[in-house]
Amino acid sequence: MQMRALVTGASAGLGAEFARQLAADGFSLVLVARDADRLRALADELPVETEVLPADLTSDAGLELAAARLGDASRPVDVLVNNAGFAVAEPFHASVIEDERRMHELLSWVPLRLAHAALPGMRARGRGGILNVASLAGRLPSGSYAAAKSQVITLSRALNARYHRDGVTVTALLPGFVPTEFHDRMGVSPDVVPRAGWSDASTVVRDGLHALRRRRGVVVSDWRYRLAAPLIPLVPDRVIAGVGLGGRIGR
Ligand SMILES: NC(=O)c1ccc[n+]([C@@H]2O[C@H](COP(=O)([O-])OP(=O)(O)OC[C@H]3O[C@@H](n4cnc5c(N)ncnc54)[C@H](OP(=O)(O)O)[C@@H]3O)[C@@H](O)[C@H]2O)c1
Repeated sequence: MQMRALVTGASAGLGAEFARQLAADGFSLVLVARDADRLRALADELPVETEVLPADLTSDAGLELAAARLGDASRPVDVLVNNAGFAVAEPFHASVIEDERRMHELLSWVPLRLAHAALPGMRARGRGGILNVASLAGRLPSGSYAAAKSQVITLSRALNARYHRDGVTVTALLPGFVPTEFHDRMGVSPDVVPRAGWSDASTVVRDGLHALRRRRGVVVSDWRYRLAAPLIPLVPDRVIAGVGLGGRIGR
């Protein structure tokens, strides 16, 4: 049976890598992001049937376009990867509130809306997977980006616990630092993260898809971050709030 996956934020970084690995697993694809040219270029490269769905997910029209595609029972989507995201670079007291709203929506409301659109069909078919790309930051009191990521972690755990019995898995993927366009787009130099702190995108994506197949609610990607994660609650909030990307997130 032909399986299909919809990936948000597929024009770059982790999303493009999700598309490549899912295509290698034989999935047909629906690629969502704002940059239609980059989506088409990726679709041309992939050896599977690929739809391109350009959409700004922070606009009502763009979000409802993606939601409608997920609800289309004639072309079912078996796996939804909620991956699109960006971070506001400025410290909270100095950021532009409209940027905060767009970030919060893209990281928290958009995954909820799209999961809500995908779930009924998945339940009716008795199978499906939703992979929410969160962040290890979602376990840290380190700013509004972290706060939005913590919401999607909680949502994933709650939905996985509730819909597991219906054959639907919802997994939150928690990467550490990954070299993508993310930090460039924030205007943060990658040099603020020591080389040993980076996980490669292919490992992060493989860990996420593996956890989804294993029906897990949450996975921390990369063995180094898995080792470090249990120590996080031992670190005082004020210490955590003082670190981050050169002090830019959560300052
Ligand atoms: N890189 C890291 O260190 C890291 C660590 C932990 C978690 N994450 C999370 O991983 C996910 C992927 O990020 P990445 O590292 O791959 O960053 P990236 O290379 O900057 O890619 C971000 C993707 O999101 C899309 N996007 C941004 N705004 C959008 C919008 N309004 N509507 C639709 N698509 C939008 C971008 O495409 P367009 O510009 O074409 O719209 C792009 O495809 C994010 O949720 C991020 O928070 C990243």
